Amino acid sequence: MKFFIDTANLDDIKEAQALGILDGVTTNPSLMNKEGIVGQANILDHYQKICKIVDGDVSAEVISTDFEGMVKEGETLAALNPQIVVKLPMIAAGIKACKYFTDKGIKTNVTLVFSAGQALLAAKAGATYVSPFLGRLDDVSTDGIHLISEIRLIYDNYSFETQILAASIRHTMHVVDCAKTGSDVMTGPLSSITGLLKHPLTDIGLAKFLADYKNGNQ
Ligand code: G3P
Repeated sequence: MKFFIDTANLDDIKEAQALGILDGVTTNPSLMNKEGIVGQANILDHYQKICKIVDGDVSAEVISTDFEGMVKEGETLAALNPQIVVKLPMIAAGIKACKYFTDKGIKTNVTLVFSAGQALLAAKAGATYVSPFLGRLDDVSTDGIHLISEIRLIYDNYSFETQILAASIRHTMHVVDCAKTGSDVMTGPLSSITGLLKHPLTDIGLAKFLADYKNGNQ
């Protein structure tokens, strides 16, 4: 399973990259705004900075909700760097734009996916990635992980090449559950990645190894 980090924070991206396990980055307008990145020139510049830190795919989301606007924005984003993946909302214009970019060989990520039917449509449009939002489903008492299983089954039935990019990850158990259900990619905050390192028995075990070494070597 590929690990993407879901943030526009350059320090968090650098920290994840330094671990040597980062495969890409996803962003969205809320995450850009959280970092105070506003205005088209600054937003485009920020994507360039992100692309310099990581080797993998970087999802950049369009703001337009009409087909022509999405095409114009997406082409500007894709021209920035071959790492850029045009992120499109799961609406009719987004699906149409997804097919347009697929036919042009530009990578896409269909976002705001909350049902298996939506994921099927994204695959039919040739999306590179589909982003089901686990955490937001869990927030409304619906099983987000079950959705991943449904999408996995459908994609495997028909050998769709669209990669399942589990998004809206909130914690480490989401990451583990995504791996168990066969997500191709997970994207989450830095804490969901670094949290995987932690186990109290690791800390206790390491302290004892070091203490025993010290006792034997003084
Ligand atoms: O980038 C899309 C998704 O990961 C957002 O997550 O935590 O805002 O539901 P969240």
